[in-house]
Amino acid sequence: MSLQDLLSANPVVPVVVVDSAQEGVGVGRALVAGGITTAEVTFRTAAAADAIRAMSEIEGLTVGAGTVVNPAQVEAAVAAGAQYIVSPGLSAEVVRATQEAGVISLPACTDGSWIMAALALGLDTVKFFPAEASGGIATIKALSAAFPGLRFMPTGGVSAANLADYLSVPVVAACGGSWMVKKDLVKAGAWEEITRLSAEAVAIAKECGR
Ligand code: 3PG
Repeated sequence: MSLQDLLSANPVVPVVVVDSAQEGVGVGRALVAGGITTAEVTFRTAAAADAIRAMSEIEGLTVGAGTVVNPAQVEAAVAAGAQYIVSPGLSAEVVRATQEAGVISLPACTDGSWIMAALALGLDTVKFFPAEASGGIATIKALSAAFPGLRFMPTGGVSAANLADYLSVPVVAACGGSWMVKKDLVKAGAWEEITRLSAEAVAIAKECGR
């Protein structure tokens, strides 16, 4: 799968934190039922690789790994079936390990220096994290003026309330966020609510022509 295919099929990329593979499968099924066809499973818990492996069995779900901060996690994520790797910052060694594994790399950049490092690694799309705390759409537009052709995946502070604003910006390839898979919903097994919030996000994206 190419980056372009991934993000055009998934204008909303849920950032998932789970403590077990079983929780991950519950979340994954609830997302798919709501029309979201990907999940970024973060390496913030020890269950990440097991969850990626189990969720990769869900029909119609493309599973990636998030919060990947070193090459060992890239290796574990790819071995578990992750099709893309997202990081909260840019590490050349993480990007290279991801490229060598043949999967999609989405490191975060919030300023020109890091964007130049990303371009040097051959990337044309970066995560913009933490989006709202880094100036949101105004910063994306300012950076975009300096780096034509670059696309962004803003994440961090994106929600149903501002999703349409972000997706209305042409250089925004997709938005990441945890609002439809909040920890309390996952812990409560509130799958119907996750499905409802997912469907709401998909509807907003459709209204934006995504
Ligand atoms: C991330 O790692 O991308 C963020 O934790 C997601 O941010 P949010 O919780 O504000 O959506």
